[in-house]
Amino acid sequence: MATKYDDKLRHGVDLSQSLVGKAVIVTGGFGGIAMATNEIILQKGGHLALVYPPFEQERVHSALDQLDAQEGGKFSQCVECFCCDITIPKDVEETLQKILRRFSNVDALVNSAGYVHLEPAIDVTFEQWQKQIAVNLTAPFLVCTAFARQLIENKRAGKIVNIASQAASIAIENHLAYTSAKAGLLGMTKVMAYEWASHGINVNTVSPTVVLTPMGEKAWQGEKGENMKSKIPMGRFAYTDEIAAAILFLITNGSDMINGADIMIDGGYTIY
Ligand SMILES: NC(=O)c1ccc[n+]([C@@H]2O[C@H](COP(=O)([O-])OP(=O)(O)OC[C@H]3O[C@@H](n4cnc5c(N)ncnc54)[C@H](O)[C@@H]3O)[C@@H](O)[C@H]2O)c1
Repeated sequence: MATKYDDKLRHGVDLSQSLVGKAVIVTGGFGGIAMATNEIILQKGGHLALVYPPFEQERVHSALDQLDAQEGGKFSQCVECFCCDITIPKDVEETLQKILRRFSNVDALVNSAGYVHLEPAIDVTFEQWQKQIAVNLTAPFLVCTAFARQLIENKRAGKIVNIASQAASIAIENHLAYTSAKAGLLGMTKVMAYEWASHGINVNTVSPTVVLTPMGEKAWQGEKGENMKSKIPMGRFAYTDEIAAAILFLITNGSDMINGADIMIDGGYTIY
């Protein structure tokens, strides 16, 4: 006779990780990791609301062309772009309303916007501190809460993935403000995960090592990068699609029991 603990019971994990009928918001939507994530979301049949800052306006067309080239031009119908400085509360609220008018329901949010400025701790100015906290911590706070509010009001489940960093968990020189923001992001994610679980909202972080993007290059080119690589047990930096693959897992139902976790994608950098 079947019991509650019947090991033949199944949750119904969708191993195809289909996103057909789902819409996903991606902030920093034209960044390196975001673009790889966008491609995978589109391949899985999802729709995209890409949020980008005013200073990136001229990238819209080339980014859309890049996505469109993926599968013979059909993707442009599935993608909408929204210009917003996500560090400004009013702009975030207005943008979310615009996104909801376009997509009616949104199922997942990926916070990929980020900014780093490297300098010794002793030299960090108040302005730089404020900017890195604003983009890496305050903006995810604003976007996550605006998104969760509409999910809860509409009694809909959802998934949130915040991109943190290995720097959130381990000291890396010249990363004072960035590390402070990303470590805050880990803590913020856990509290959101705890409070919103009863509404069916999963909130998690992924924490990459150096990724092959403009941001990775800015921080780790040359000898400094080679030195860093030698400390990563896997002996290399991460590709953008390796981060995107983890994000896909976290926004599909195979991860429904993962909540408040930080998925390290660091080739083992933080294990010793
Ligand atoms: N590349 C790495 O080595 C690495 C490592 C660990 C974590 N990360 C994190 O991954 C995420 C994506 O990084 P990436 O490497 O793709 O960087 P990227 O520089 O390619 O993309 C970051 C994006 O954030 C956007 N952004 C910056 N300020 C913004 C604002 N005020 N409003 C809206 N958008 C804004 C930028 O326009 C850019 O498109 C970031 O959160 C970053 O901190 C990156």
